[in-house]
Amino acid sequence: MSTADKYSTADKYVVPVEMCTWDIEAAGAARFSWEYGDGRDRLLALYQKGKDKQWDAMQRIDWHLDVDPDDPLGMPLQSNPLVGSRAWERLQDDPRALGELRRHQVAWQFSQFMHGEQGAMICSARIVESVPDLDAKFYASTQTMDEARHAETYARFLQEKVGLVYPINPHLKSLLDDTLSDSRWDMPYLGMQVLIEGLALAAFGVLRDMTTAALPKQILSYVMQDEARHVAFGRIALRDYYAQLTAAERAEREEFVVEGCYLMRDRFRGQEIWEHLGLDRADCEQTVMNSPLMQAYQALLFSRIVPCVKDIGLWGPRVQRAYADMGVLDMAGIDLDALLRADEDLAEQADAQKADAQKRELVERRAEVDEVIAIGSADAPTP
Ligand SMILES: [Fe+2]
Ligand SMILES: [Fe+2]
Repeated sequence: MSTADKYSTADKYVVPVEMCTWDIEAAGAARFSWEYGDGRDRLLALYQKGKDKQWDAMQRIDWHLDVDPDDPLGMPLQSNPLVGSRAWERLQDDPRALGELRRHQVAWQFSQFMHGEQGAMICSARIVESVPDLDAKFYASTQTMDEARHAETYARFLQEKVGLVYPINPHLKSLLDDTLSDSRWDMPYLGMQVLIEGLALAAFGVLRDMTTAALPKQILSYVMQDEARHVAFGRIALRDYYAQLTAAERAEREEFVVEGCYLMRDRFRGQEIWEHLGLDRADCEQTVMNSPLMQAYQALLFSRIVPCVKDIGLWGPRVQRAYADMGVLDMAGIDLDALLRADEDLAEQADAQKADAQKRELVERRAEVDEVIAIGSADAPTP
């Protein structure tokens, strides 16, 4: 079997997916800039950091680590969003059915991460093409590579360790469509980096902190380390740009933010899993909506978006009203810089832990070898 067959996605989709490309007609201009010399210091510093912090998913991640397909994240049962539903009452004493449910939940979640990362890669490439300034083009080129690595990493995790893949969620797809078919250069950035990746980043963070499985913990920590740079770019590039827009132009962006946030909150709960496994949709929906744990999780999902939206200057009454309605307005006060610094530190800690584990393994192996040599020399006939 060739590597391509082994990792083919076609036979891992839970429902048949037509393996043709999804084409979005490009709109807007591809722009050249002839000014090579007056980059903004903060953007050029970010570009330098993007170059310095490149890594290879094949090398940095310990792919040999085992993953339990029935509980790929090693999560406490009580954290399952379906706890309390009739479906859960029925399934909880059936280890096979419970394992299947948990595997599908992780497959759905990580499949959306994977498709989202492909979207992020395409949006970053679009920014390289359309943003007017060269410093932003340079930086976005490094982000394109980061997003390629993220899509590669999630794809390998799903294909090799989970063995199941879900198609892209239709609402995520329509948000991507809106984002990419707009000719204004900032829209891919606002839709993708601020909204979709803002939500994704919060979800990565919750899972990174809760998972007890070493492989997904590494993956999430390393991906998050890169995302800290992406958020920083959005804040620099969009804050400068939005400050020059008219009130009407800003209002259009605010409208887009509000609609996108409601869409991702209400339509992105794993409904496809319940349908696929034949669980009662109304029962699952009701449980997820009313679960205090899920409400806390949903609120956390906005912890990265709300301070960022405020920071880039899209903070009109419509946005504030929507966030108050969602119960997340207080999150505007969150220190985003501190969160992002902590993400970078955690990735470095994961590297340090790996280095310690490798050292321990080396010491153990040496001890084993010494022991075998000692046994061998004890058995040797005395001359
Ligand atoms: Fe990413
Ligand atoms: Fe990103």
